[in-house]
Amino acid sequence: MKKRPIIIDTDPGIDDAVAIAIALFSEELDVKLITTVAGNVSLDKVTYNTLRLLKFFQKEVPVAKGAAEPLIRPLMDASNVHGKSGMEGFDFEEPDDHLLLEENAVNAMRRVIMESDEPITLVPIAPLTNIALLLKVYPEVKANIREIVMMGGSASRGNKGVMSEFNVATDPEAAKIVFNSGLPLVMAGLDVGWNALVLPEDSAKLPQLGEVGRMAYCLFQKYRGGSMKTGLKMYDSCAMAYLLKPEMYEIAETYVDVELAGTMTAGCTLVDLKGYLGQPNNAKVCMSINQELFRTWFLDCIARCI
Ligand code: RIB
Ligand code: CA
Repeated sequence: MKKRPIIIDTDPGIDDAVAIAIALFSEELDVKLITTVAGNVSLDKVTYNTLRLLKFFQKEVPVAKGAAEPLIRPLMDASNVHGKSGMEGFDFEEPDDHLLLEENAVNAMRRVIMESDEPITLVPIAPLTNIALLLKVYPEVKANIREIVMMGGSASRGNKGVMSEFNVATDPEAAKIVFNSGLPLVMAGLDVGWNALVLPEDSAKLPQLGEVGRMAYCLFQKYRGGSMKTGLKMYDSCAMAYLLKPEMYEIAETYVDVELAGTMTAGCTLVDLKGYLGQPNNAKVCMSINQELFRTWFLDCIARCI
């Protein structure tokens, strides 16, 4: 079966780490490029973490560094969730730098997209700074982008602000550019991320699921997106789940915009299910998830890695 070509934009990040593994070891996806962006921790740290993951996974995928900070606002990282390094808990080998491109992420994404004989799917699982820059600097890429499948946003409450999700809240201006780009967009936000849980009985199985299972088990000891006891939130795997098993979701086609001016609500994604804003639909929003299906799918994916 022909693999779907994708570019992952990421800020590893413990939940990013397992999402990247799921994509790299899947039969259906061809990861053409991984780009990094400041988010969970600094650009240098997320890039280092990406290279460490690729070494561990023994996967030769080019990596390009992107934005070191959001378009306008200062970076407020999530080291409280992922640890100081951004990927605490597992002793990775030092990476080889041969996968790190000289090109910056925006130029690398443009090149890969324009060279591809098949439209590329962008899979941002981090703040949208790189994606916004790409679409503004090189709008011609839109002609060869199939879809943007992102982890971010929320139709309900937030995990960074009262009403704002971390990836969108970190760079609301970038998110607004992406939502208003006119490209087909899928939003896998907190409405599914909060319920994409690895429960204690699932975590207990991980050490028996090969090298990646053992890696995940170790990282999850330090991950504060939930807990081993109450369930670990696999936010970024939700984007991969849309690509690989969309039937686990209930999806609403609607209009989504991003609040920028609110002193207390900047970064909030307004998911306008009732059409109050009178705008045409611009996104498919994953509104709910079949938790059992997710858990089974997640463990199956991890088991299929090295
Ligand atoms: O809100 C969850 C998102 O913020 C995930 O992408 C996680 O990695 C953090 O970046
Ligand atoms: Ca992330």
